Amino acid sequence: MTDIPAPAPAAEFWEARYRDSHRVWSGRPNELLVEEADGLAPGTALDLGCGEGADAVWLASRGWRVTGVDVSATALERAAGHAAEAGVGDRVAWERHELGPSFPAGSFDLVSAHYLQSPVELDLPTVLRAAARAVAPGGTLLLVLHAGWPSWQTEPPFDAVFPTLDGVLGELALPEGEWSVETRRTARRPSVSPDGVEGFREDHVWRLRRA
Ligand SMILES: C[S@@+](CC[C@H](N)C(=O)[O-])C[C@H]1O[C@@H](n2cnc3c(N)ncnc32)[C@H](O)[C@@H]1O
Repeated sequence: MTDIPAPAPAAEFWEARYRDSHRVWSGRPNELLVEEADGLAPGTALDLGCGEGADAVWLASRGWRVTGVDVSATALERAAGHAAEAGVGDRVAWERHELGPSFPAGSFDLVSAHYLQSPVELDLPTVLRAAARAVAPGGTLLLVLHAGWPSWQTEPPFDAVFPTLDGVLGELALPEGEWSVETRRTARRPSVSPDGVEGFREDHVWRLRRA
């Protein structure tokens, strides 16, 4: 009898999360992507943890050729559907990877990862270093991560260690003199709880340019 490897916890968790709900995310591109990538000349882009594809579709509609990557096959199927609906299906390729153990091949003018955060195993430092290596000369690495829970969240739903601005730069371990930091900031945006409590959430943003 052949041994069939057990599905990785990340794949199991995220596949169940997407299957449990008709739509998990809003379908709109992340505001911080729009702010940070709007001025970039289109080329090739890699979206890590692309979910249902709203960022990839937005980039493709701005002229980028995009590769969207996620661990969930269901998320990628939905993303492909949204790209087709938006008329950019031929500008986006979708690849399923468990980032950490696996990473897409190639180099890209923009490597973007928004909220690549998970309650299950994810070796973020390894993924971020691979993301930096995948940036083509002259290209951009754009990272956005939640800096903490929303202000209205009195009881965290799970234990999480949130990143710091300097911590992520340290983990990236970028070769000296090869990168410039164009954005390093914390953005605060309004956030409303499921039962209507108004508050805010903070995200860290890094935009780095490779020489
Ligand atoms: C918080 S969601 C963010 C989705 C999307 N980037 C957005 O901003 O709406 C995190 C995404 O990362 C994916 N993900 C988590 N761990 C992963 C891993 N190890 N490899 C690939 N994708 C992963 C999840 O399936 C999910 O779609």
